[in-house]
Amino acid sequence: MSDTDTTPTISTAVEGSISDTDRAASASDRDVIESRGLDVHYGDVQALQDVDLAIPERRVTAIIGPSGCGKSTYLRCINRMNDLVEAATIEGELLFDGTDVYGEDVDPVALRRRIGMVFQHPNPFPKSIYDNVAYGLRVQNRKVTDERVRTALERAALWEEVNDQLETSALDLSGGQQQRLCIARAIAVDPDVLLMDEPASALDPIATSKIEDLIEELAEDYTVVIVTHNMQQAARISDRTAVFLTGGELVEYDDTQTIFENPAHDRVEDYITGKFG
Ligand SMILES: Nc1ncnc2c1ncn2[C@@H]1O[C@H](COP(=O)(O)OP(=O)(O)OP(=O)(O)O)[C@@H](O)[C@H]1O
Ligand SMILES: [Mg+2]
Repeated sequence: MSDTDTTPTISTAVEGSISDTDRAASASDRDVIESRGLDVHYGDVQALQDVDLAIPERRVTAIIGPSGCGKSTYLRCINRMNDLVEAATIEGELLFDGTDVYGEDVDPVALRRRIGMVFQHPNPFPKSIYDNVAYGLRVQNRKVTDERVRTALERAALWEEVNDQLETSALDLSGGQQQRLCIARAIAVDPDVLLMDEPASALDPIATSKIEDLIEELAEDYTVVIVTHNMQQAARISDRTAVFLTGGELVEYDDTQTIFENPAHDRVEDYITGKFG
């Protein structure tokens, strides 16, 4: 773990909001998340082993690999969701914008404002569509305006379908609509990063394709890290692909095209072609 005394803390960094001009100026191939020698154990079980991974800003990075290889664990390390798992111990470094997210001064709640998460099963709150989108703004004591709610729904490609029923319960939406609502809820607070853990695995092909289109669009504004078991999906929507294999080892990380067309490791080729996993 690095000494955070001399580096700005995440909680300080969130106070100034990032303007559109800053965003445009920062559009580059710089890495926004970086892990170095990341090890995670749950009690005696090692879930991640010495993972070095640098995730580029405003790109889609896919994490693939067989069940139990540590994909969700890696995602949960980035916004410190593993803090909530008592058995989890995390060693090594994980940097977000150059700051060690496990540094003493970092407030995990402030961190999660900048790094939003979307889960496998849509989890809207039992509230109206409008209140779901407004939720994060209210929690952060930020002004809720119809404009902000509308913009989030538009960016999540849901506005057209729900604009005349904003006061109805989010639970009445279809699964695919609920997942886009969860994405709208996550982006309403304007995070920098969106972590998505198998966001389309519970959806039918049409809803899946809508989510995929949406993810590609979101990468214009956000850094997206997506875990998926769907190889075609990873190949279609991601710029970079990280392949984890059993034991929590990151075996290969490269441009998505290279991973799928010319991987360096036989084990990766076997996994991608369905010979195991
Ligand atoms: N809360 C927990 N407590 C104990 N062990 C855990 C916990 N969460 C995950 N593990 C273990 O850590 C390892 C990695 O789990 P993880 O959920 O990260 O895998 P995954 O790659 O996301 O798998 P899947 O594709 O099935 O979602 C597994 O051996 C799993 O059993
Ligand atoms: Mg998982």
